[in-house]
Amino acid sequence: MPSIFAVTNPKGGSGKTTVAIILAGEFAKHGYATAIVDADPQGSSYQWHASSVARGLSPDGVDLVRAADEKALAQAIDRLDAYDVLVVDTPGYYGEVVIQAALRADLVVLPSKVHTFDASQVVRTIRNLERHSATAGLPMSQHRVLFNEYDSLDRNTRPLREVVAYLDAERVPVCANALYRRVTYRTMTSGHGTLYQMSDKDEPVRKARYNADQVVRELLAASQDGASAEAAA
Ligand SMILES: Nc1ncnc2c1ncn2[C@@H]1O[C@H](COP(=O)(O)OP(=O)(O)OP(=O)(O)O)[C@@H](O)[C@H]1O
Ligand SMILES: [Mg+2]
Repeated sequence: MPSIFAVTNPKGGSGKTTVAIILAGEFAKHGYATAIVDADPQGSSYQWHASSVARGLSPDGVDLVRAADEKALAQAIDRLDAYDVLVVDTPGYYGEVVIQAALRADLVVLPSKVHTFDASQVVRTIRNLERHSATAGLPMSQHRVLFNEYDSLDRNTRPLREVVAYLDAERVPVCANALYRRVTYRTMTSGHGTLYQMSDKDEPVRKARYNADQVVRELLAASQDGASAEAAA
């Protein structure tokens, strides 16, 4: 059975596709058989994969499968059971696809900018997913907010403190590592394969890899925490 990471946040442009591609590239780098399930009709992950292939940079170790709706998503997850890891990229609106992806996930990753608009949307989403899980008679999946497009200038700023305090008060778990705003991520997602197919002679690429590696190690540990909590129950 693959480990399933659902990357979700109904707020458009929060970084779901970017995070999905980074996660998949890192899992592949760690030697896991990895596929992205692109469950967003917009098809941005698919576009990354296809344009990388067209450029002769077929993403190393990352397959891509499209799922047009929640039924196709459920079928894809069942069919892809030979993979070690599935990363589900979801649409920029709340609906059945997001609900199904979250219910099936070992870890729901919610990328969010460091701003109260974004944080309140994330909290609303988690509360909705908790309700849907309860209705389905299932426990709420493990989940983590991942600050995205983070800048070192954000450190010790009031918006960061306020958002962290708000999420803490709402008992929403937040990753200790943030994903930084980096041009390298934009370049990669424009169709340049994974971070490991970009030249490590470039300092920004090395920094991006380091940042991605830190984030993914933390998310992997969080997904395994969930598995051991289940086994202990
Ligand atoms: N960490 C980052 N560093 C630099 N640019 C980023 C980062 N994260 C996201 N972006 C940029 O922000 C924009 C939106 O990102 P992305 O497409 O990943 O969001 P999304 O949540 O998948 O959007 P949608 O809701 O439309 O599917 C893109 O131009 C992307 O390149
Ligand atoms: Mg997207």
